[in-house]
Amino acid sequence: MSPRFLVTASIPEPGMALLYDAGDVTLLPEVPDADALRALCASGDYDVLVARLSDTIDASLLGSAKLRGVSNYAVGFNNIDVPAATARGIVVGNTPGVLTDATADIAMLLILGTARRVIEADSLVRSGGFSGWNPQLLMGSDVSGQVLGLAGFGRIARATARRAAAFGMDVVFSPRPPAERIVSEEELGDLAGKVRQLPWEQVVAQADFLSIHVPLNEDTLHLVDASVLAAMKPGAFLINTARGPVVDEAALVTALREGVIAGAGLDVYENEPELAAGLAELPNTVLLPHIGSATVPVRNKMAVLAAANAIAMAKGELPPHPVNP
Ligand code: DGY
Repeated sequence: MSPRFLVTASIPEPGMALLYDAGDVTLLPEVPDADALRALCASGDYDVLVARLSDTIDASLLGSAKLRGVSNYAVGFNNIDVPAATARGIVVGNTPGVLTDATADIAMLLILGTARRVIEADSLVRSGGFSGWNPQLLMGSDVSGQVLGLAGFGRIARATARRAAAFGMDVVFSPRPPAERIVSEEELGDLAGKVRQLPWEQVVAQADFLSIHVPLNEDTLHLVDASVLAAMKPGAFLINTARGPVVDEAALVTALREGVIAGAGLDVYENEPELAAGLAELPNTVLLPHIGSATVPVRNKMAVLAAANAIAMAKGELPPHPVNP
């Protein structure tokens, strides 16, 4: 029997083409609710589910699923209960590597955009409020000479560090907050001498820009809470391109409103696509709709990886990028 793929939402054409070539594809016409998706996965009609990071693949779905694999169209896989999948013998795959630079670009864009008040500036021009050069118009913060604190030191954090160093920033990092882990000189690779490891509390206290690059798990849920925000410099900015729930968004809104920190640049939110009450009204924010990996070449590469994972899983082979080998 040819492989049967269930796809919750169309992925870019290069990935869809590989799936159509490899077997039978069922592309859902609209996003299914949890009950509908569970029933489809339990039907025995599909070998592999190709999921988006906004599909919740929890223990209740996996417990009744008759699938060989779940291929996530994302590098993050916090939407999937991986231990529950493993217990059921279901392989999970993701799309690492290809979105590193694009996501680091967005982190850098948010650093620059918050520092230089780009949204306020753009709004002023569009609303007809620009009345000519003014010595004190929209003065922002410097980036060069400032401290970038990285929470995490994986691929995207390192790529952000390279960009920040090129902008003259002093880069410090904590590799696995809130826990400690020493990164050796050898592991630093090309970043040796350009970045400094510090305990998490010192990264928080020293950062002019604190950028989040940790996966979402039970250790990092609300890693940045009211107490961490209070420990940041009053002139500091919070940048998040990782996962929304790493930041307590209600606490962030309060901190931004009360001037505890200067601003925030966010690509991800605690309850996407909802925003915490009041966040959208704050002028000292740059708010993007989770577009870290959203370039045409990157999304095409992610689609090819997701399809390659799905095709291998359907054949009972180890996929190129398994999460639970
Ligand atoms: C991922 O792949 O995990 C990203 O968040 C999508 O851009």
